[in-house]
Amino acid sequence: MNATPQLDLDAPDPTLATLPTFDRYVSGLEGGPELLQGLIQLALDIKADPARYVRDRPLEGKVFTALFLNPSLRTRTSFEAAMARLGGHMVTLSPGSGSWNLEFDTGVTMDGGAAEHIIEAAGVLSSYSDAIGMRAFAPMSDFLGEMRDEPMHQLANHASVPVLSLESACYHPCQGLADSMTLTELFEGTPQGQPFTLTWTRHPKMCGVAVPHSALLAAARLGMNVTLAHPEGYDLHPDVIAQAAGLADAQGGQLQLTNDMDAACEGARVIYAKAWGAPLDYGDPQAGAARNASHPDWTVSDHHMQLGDDPWFMHCLPVRRNVVVTDSVLDSGRSAVQQQAANRMWGQMALLLKAMLNWRL
Ligand code: CP
Repeated sequence: MNATPQLDLDAPDPTLATLPTFDRYVSGLEGGPELLQGLIQLALDIKADPARYVRDRPLEGKVFTALFLNPSLRTRTSFEAAMARLGGHMVTLSPGSGSWNLEFDTGVTMDGGAAEHIIEAAGVLSSYSDAIGMRAFAPMSDFLGEMRDEPMHQLANHASVPVLSLESACYHPCQGLADSMTLTELFEGTPQGQPFTLTWTRHPKMCGVAVPHSALLAAARLGMNVTLAHPEGYDLHPDVIAQAAGLADAQGGQLQLTNDMDAACEGARVIYAKAWGAPLDYGDPQAGAARNASHPDWTVSDHHMQLGDDPWFMHCLPVRRNVVVTDSVLDSGRSAVQQQAANRMWGQMALLLKAMLNWRL
């Protein structure tokens, strides 16, 4: 009989020790709490007086090229809208559908489906563009390996212009930025110390961990009292947990973990829902779906909202109604999902100004 496979998430991960993950808004720019506060303030300023920035056209003549290896509604549209409003232009490419399929591994014989290597593509696009963005989801076959965000690093290493993550395997920093801005607005500038619960929810498919990683770090950087809830086996990456705990502690907050969704929602001021796949099931989507289905009660409902302290409901979208969250919660006056999505554009306007003009924050 085969032994039950084990993924030792507590063991040191040599891949993360040798290659920093891409938890940054722009290549070369570390994403600490000071940068986050500066970007939030600029985004709030733009949102308060957009006409001023539209009139001044600060990104006139600038080009942002975005590679979408995966679908998008919000990220693509909010970046295109942001570039247009700031006077610049965005070129959107979908490799494999209108532009060549890209290879990211080095030293390979390219006799398969990919016609172009990221080495050439990054150089070429750098000669046309003032910044490059890329969305590259996890293939969901090797949890620890994919957390290295190799495709993002390949692009950043071979580009000569700033590189922005439009969501990688490990992080979704632009969502984290919009969520930070939303939390700042919801708590009128002082989210510090507020109870924030990030809860796993059921889902018919295995989803990546980028959004929960970035939501966790966003709340921690704001000094919130963060509770992470998920069934056993759904651990997020231990390095991200450790980073979030350290950030929360440094900002006067804390991080606690639980396998009890009800307990996590008690007293919460924010219930942030997200589905993600169990690390052990990477490479076996059927097992992942079956494991998800074994937790049918993990849907955010009025019951959970009533356990909280008049909480806000948050989700990055897209969301599966009556799977991740009930209609009654999503359609209630306590749902902040539209505000989160709207803030994607304002946050990214700030980010583009920083990336392309090194805007003073
Ligand atoms: N939240 C988010 O990134 O949405 P899209 O996948 O539609 O871009």
